[in-house]
Amino acid sequence: MTTASTWAARALMARREAVVGRHSPMFYDEPLHVTSGQGVWLRGTDGIDYLDAYNNVPHVGHCNPAVVRAIADQAALLNVHTRYLHEPVVEYAEALLATFDPRLDKVLFTNSGSESNELALRIARQHTGNTGIVVTDFSYHGNTTSLAELTTGLRVKERLGSHVRALRTPDLDADERPVEDVLDEALDQVAAALASLKAAGHGVSAFLFDPLFSTEGLLRTPPGYVEAVATMIRAAGGLVIADEVQSGLGRSGSQFWGHELYDIAPDLVTLGKPLGNGHPVGGVVTTTELLEEFGTDNLYFNTFAGNPVSAAAGLAVLREMADRELQRNAWDVGARARELLEKLVEHRPHVKAVRGQGLFFGLELVDDNGQPGTAQAKWVVENMRRRGVLISRIGPHDNVLKIRPPMIFEREHVDLLVERLTASLDDLETTEAHEQAASPASATRNGRKGRVNSPLRTGLFIDGKWRSNSNKFDVLNPADGSLAARVSAGGESDVDDAVQAARRALAGEWAEVPGARRAALLNRLADMVERDADTLARLEALDIGKPVGQPAAFDVPNAIATFRHFAGWADKIQGTTVPTAGYQGRPTHSYTVREPIGVIGAIIPWNTPLMIAAWKLGPALAAGNTVVVKPAEDAPLSILHLAGLIEEAGFPPGVVNVVPGFGDVAGAALVRHPGVDKISFTGSPEVGREIQKAAADTFKRVTLELGGKSPQIVLEDADVEAAVQGIAMGLFFNQGEVCAAGTRILVHRSRYERVVSLLADVAKAQVVGDPFDPDTTMGALISREHLDRVLSYIERGKAEGARLVAGGGRPSTKGYFVEPTIFADVRNDSAIAREEIFGPVGAVMPFDDVDEAVRIANETEYGLAATIWTRDVSLAHTVARRLRVGTVWVNGWAAIDPALPWGGMKASGIGRELGWSGILASTEEKVVTVVL
Ligand SMILES: Cc1ncc(COP(=O)(O)O)c(C=O)c1O
Repeated sequence: MTTASTWAARALMARREAVVGRHSPMFYDEPLHVTSGQGVWLRGTDGIDYLDAYNNVPHVGHCNPAVVRAIADQAALLNVHTRYLHEPVVEYAEALLATFDPRLDKVLFTNSGSESNELALRIARQHTGNTGIVVTDFSYHGNTTSLAELTTGLRVKERLGSHVRALRTPDLDADERPVEDVLDEALDQVAAALASLKAAGHGVSAFLFDPLFSTEGLLRTPPGYVEAVATMIRAAGGLVIADEVQSGLGRSGSQFWGHELYDIAPDLVTLGKPLGNGHPVGGVVTTTELLEEFGTDNLYFNTFAGNPVSAAAGLAVLREMADRELQRNAWDVGARARELLEKLVEHRPHVKAVRGQGLFFGLELVDDNGQPGTAQAKWVVENMRRRGVLISRIGPHDNVLKIRPPMIFEREHVDLLVERLTASLDDLETTEAHEQAASPASATRNGRKGRVNSPLRTGLFIDGKWRSNSNKFDVLNPADGSLAARVSAGGESDVDDAVQAARRALAGEWAEVPGARRAALLNRLADMVERDADTLARLEALDIGKPVGQPAAFDVPNAIATFRHFAGWADKIQGTTVPTAGYQGRPTHSYTVREPIGVIGAIIPWNTPLMIAAWKLGPALAAGNTVVVKPAEDAPLSILHLAGLIEEAGFPPGVVNVVPGFGDVAGAALVRHPGVDKISFTGSPEVGREIQKAAADTFKRVTLELGGKSPQIVLEDADVEAAVQGIAMGLFFNQGEVCAAGTRILVHRSRYERVVSLLADVAKAQVVGDPFDPDTTMGALISREHLDRVLSYIERGKAEGARLVAGGGRPSTKGYFVEPTIFADVRNDSAIAREEIFGPVGAVMPFDDVDEAVRIANETEYGLAATIWTRDVSLAHTVARRLRVGTVWVNGWAAIDPALPWGGMKASGIGRELGWSGILASTEEKVVTVVL
């Protein structure tokens, strides 16, 4: 989906809401904007053709040419009031009635299914003189009850009207008792309904049911049930109404009308828009006997629906059904679908049953506890849309996937549907699909409290497929220590599978993908990250504990920009031609080419996982490498979501694999694996050192970014107020869990006390707390262990004699929060000035001149970044030249950009990422010399 189409859909949605109202329901979280249809396909404004496996009304296919022609021809000829005499309506009525039992020999045309039901009920009430109505529980999505009651809908919390009784339809698939017991109980319920109507002063006028029980989730009633209810209702003086809005027109494959599945003769049959293939025409079919009772006083029995154009549409539909043998098609294609679906659902914990017949299926989903899987069904419907297939959901719990394609569906469409559904259900098993709204209990249990309104992916993504492991690890919400998710832990064999997949992809299709196509894929991925920006920001906040506004404003936009930047490089990775001296007296032609390094293992830290994953994936993919990503065990969620987007964007299987797990298992396996050509790691120097050693065995290339102890130098002439704001950001952004955090604050003695006091004020003004509260400026540290580490540094700072001017404690005992902390008068050889704390702890120290500032700044094993605060341009450049760091910022902090090389000197790492340097680090240079 491109961004432009999303905008178009949103703009149309806004206009729709303005005129239709906010509450008018739509399918899908992001509305699908469709503009045309053909056969079984619907085209969206995103340019995607969606397979319509839901088909609300066009039974004979979208824009069926025969129907279109009939409507156009008739509209060009005549469209008049129904009470003139003209042929089309009569011709249509004759054709329609010919499909019914001869007893049902009259039809009243209406505009819709609802109107048909209402008219049928009115007829029944007048005929019987009774007011009571018995309906099946959830027919017409539960609206039959509302219609009978004349309430506005399901959610109106009125008691059922005293004249309406709803029957819970027995379902043999959901009841393990003997059939007779199920039937007896159901019929007792009917008797009780009739008795209670009577007690309330209502005789019964009608029993209204949908023969396929289609909106109830396609139930399997005990043989004889419908017949027995009809008999009882009739014995009590009522009529039988079959609502065929969904089940008619050969849908079941075996019968043309659904009620023919039973040994009953309904008194009235109600029909809806499928009659006209979506054109608004419905009908009530009934008997002469019944209709003759009504005199000419009932003028409005026949609305203006039966006009010639509607009649032409309906007639064309009936002819198409007959000419193309669509009922037979429903039988044949339906049988194939049923067979495949039954195979598909074997051994799937979330699928309880396949229901339905002909071309109308339901897949009943359950959650982990065997309860109705409402959230799971919603997830699959959304996921299928992303796969280009439209299905829906039904049933009182909305947990039955509704598959009801147009009657022209062919085998190839079934195969496509089943293939996509298989992939989607595979995905579901590796995705925690509890949605907050649907399951508040589980939401609280897993600590999300409605903050990430999207299913979490929890599996491993290998070779384009999702898998799960029995070995799982807990991902905790740092803000309260609760469980956010349980994620499969990749083991050595998973890493091996991922590497093998990456190697195969490297040698296969991916090798032939030209740069321009890699660019298109990266841009598409950027579009998807943009589309899911809110979800990704929330995942980062949930997983890491950072205030949600920070990833929304920084991490996610940076990831998008990074993918776009490297999309730009993908088709511009060039070599050179090199003049040379020749060979054995003959001239030579020499040139260089840049080739992908091969399989890159990308090991991601937990502080800004999405962004760093983009930093590693962007250049690697632009240059044609394949990648195995190992997210940090503390924060894998956003990368797992990203893996889903990579899949959706259409990267070939194996190009990107994601194996969450522990560093000493999955990380180590990746580093040791002979099939990996390069490791790109961001993390601590200790682990970086181990990686470099292990990589030596197999001569892997390495890029290591290992953190820092970056100085912020406030020179004598600096704008102190601006400097303090920047310094505070460098200390407290992301809770100080930033490799480039500016934690050593070197201040000219003339400005020293002022800076110390302002910094203390800013630290005290930080709002520490709930990452999802918009007022929060600093969230929680990643884990209990890390909190203890940061607190121990604070204790060491105190013990070392530094002056604590702000913070130093914990604001609350719940969650891993620490106060923003500032130490003044810190010695540069103390632990809090030397070691990377990775928390919101600043060490302020004075200097007397520029030379001393530079000396202190460089007196560290690290060399990642530094900031200089000054108004003196010349001094800025001079100091910048003297600092041994990968990046110098002047009058700002973390002004990073995907175009700028990123990396450190000394213990801060080896190599550079981003920009052209990122491409260089992702390619091998080859020389070709031709002796001419
Ligand atoms: C079983 C059933 N009856 C009646 C209706 C109402 O039809 P309409 O939308 O044409 O009013 C529907 C619509 O979905 C339905 O499914």
